This record gives sequence, C-alpha cells and structure tokens, in this order.
Amino acid sequence: MFTLPLLATILRETFSSQQSRRIPEPDLIMDNPAKVEAFRQAGSEHGILSSVYLFHCAQISEVIKPGDTVLDLGCGPCNQLGVIARHNPDVNFIGVDLSDEMLARAEEHLRKEKLSNVTLRKDDITRLDSLADKSVDAVYSTVVLHHLPTEADLEAAFAQTSRVLREDGGLYLVDFAHLKSEKSIQYFAYRDQFEQPELFTLDYLYSLRAAFPLTSFSRDYQRHLKNRGHLYAFKPMPYMVAIKSAPRRNFDPALTARLRETQKSLKSKHHADLKNIMMLFRLSGLKSPYLS
Ligand SMILES: C[S@@+](CC[C@H](N)C(=O)[O-])C[C@H]1O[C@@H](n2cnc3c(N)ncnc32)[C@H](O)[C@@H]1O
Repeated sequence: MFTLPLLATILRETFSSQQSRRIPEPDLIMDNPAKVEAFRQAGSEHGILSSVYLFHCAQISEVIKPGDTVLDLGCGPCNQLGVIARHNPDVNFIGVDLSDEMLARAEEHLRKEKLSNVTLRKDDITRLDSLADKSVDAVYSTVVLHHLPTEADLEAAFAQTSRVLREDGGLYLVDFAHLKSEKSIQYFAYRDQFEQPELFTLDYLYSLRAAFPLTSFSRDYQRHLKNRGHLYAFKPMPYMVAIKSAPRRNFDPALTARLRETQKSLKSKHHADLKNIMMLFRLSGLKSPYLS
C-alpha cells in the first residue's frame, strides 16, 4: 500500500510549479571501487535492489525468447543481468559496459553463479561499435541512461538501440525520470537510508538529480523507437519511465513458476517493495503478468 509520505510526494509532484535542474552524475561511468562495491552489495541476492531486479527480470522475460541474442546496455556488475540469465537459461546475453572496474566485478559474478549464457564486452552505449546493424533479437537497459552526460548522448543511445535491433525485436529500456522538486528527490533517495550503505544512498541521490526529464525521453522515443514499443510513465509523478515492446513469447508456465518461486523467496520488506513498484508502474499502464 502507498504510505502517507509517498502519497504526499505524489501530490507535491502533481501540483508543484517548480522544475529542479538536471545535474549530471559526478561519475559518468562507475569505476570508483568503493562505489562499485556499494552498488554490487545492494544488488546481491537479498540486497535492497532484489525486488527491483525481479520486477525488471519479469518485464524483460516477456520480450525475449529461447534462442535469442539479447543485449544489455550498461550491465554494471551483472547482478541484474545474472537474475535475468538465470531465469532464462536458453537465451544468450551480451552485456556491455564502459567501466573496467564494473566489467571485472561482472566477470567474477558470472563465474561465481556458473552462468555460461552471458558474454561481456567493453563498449559505449552511445556508439555500440562492436555490434552490427540488426544483429540482436532484443535490447534492454536498466537504470543506466541517467549516467549519460548530455541530451545528445541520450538521443545517440536511442539511435544505436534502433540500429542494432532487428525488425520486430524485443525492447525494454527503464530509467528514472526527473522529478520537479528537490524535496521529492530527497524523499526517494533517503527513504531506506538505514538499510543501505551511505555510499549507495548518495549514489541514488545523484542518480535522481541526473535523471533526464520525461520530455527528453518522449522526444527521443518519438524520433527513434516509436515503432518499437510503447512509452510508459505515470505523468503526475514520472519517478520512472519505461519503453517496452509487445511480448514476444506466449505465456510460459515454467518461466512463471521460476519467477514466482523467486518472488516467494524475497524478504518480507522486499516483498512489500515489489508490490509498491508493481503498483507505481501499473499507474502508468505497465502490468506484470508474470508476478503475483
Ligand atoms: C547504475 S549502473 C546499472 C547497472 C545495471 N544495469 C543494473 O541495473 O544493475 C550504470 C552502469 O552504466 C555504465 N555506463 C555509464 N555510461 C555508459 C556508457 N556510455 N556506455 C556503457 N556503459 C555505461 C556504468 O559504468 C555503470 O556500470
């Protein structure tokens, strides 16, 4: 259920006449070892990000299918990619990132998890030099785009996504969108401050400040990805925005069972977090048929 502070934040964003300024991330790519470690810990099996990871995994699982080659833009330490690859063992994944530190953590994580359906590449998501036109069956990206320094880079990432994705390919791009008020940004960043490392809280604060406005997502979506999927955002408070294609596989009972098993294993706090994320996205029209 929505808490009073969350409802107050939605009301503030709905009626505020402010428009806080975008402040690009201090670390454009993430290669500070302490910050990388804080992010890796938050994304570990029962870490604070476990509910978010399961939510995105369920969304992405709908737009990919066995035999696909799927590109993850900005895979980071592969905690999110690891969850998706484990639930989709018949799919091949390519994770790209520009940070050597992240790629080293990612390799370690994949080895530990014994995941053989993932390969890693160093590449820039605004260029994707290592990928040919229409060479992948699906592209996804989770909370990466706000790391891009400029509006031109955001547009370049959308254009590259369209270039490497084959016709009728699957798509799921999700990121924060810019909130109007600094008070709302601080509400989300500090909400769970006592359950997460301080560096993670700061990283979250900088991410929300660096988020692109919904108008930028809408403009670049119209230019490059309009025919690839639908843009979902809860307009009164677009805390997150997603661009998602139509599902590419029939309802898959075995996959659903795997996802629901993982859902059951979440800690009760993370279970409640998952319900909140599902509700916030449902307000934007994005449903989660694979989760209960
Ligand atoms: C917040 S992490 C997200 C990692 C992962 N997608 C997840 O959801 O856990 C953002 C990642 O994007 C990477 N990144 C930022 N700019 C990039 C660029 N231009 N090309 C490739 N990777 C980039 C950073 O190095 C970092 O690993």
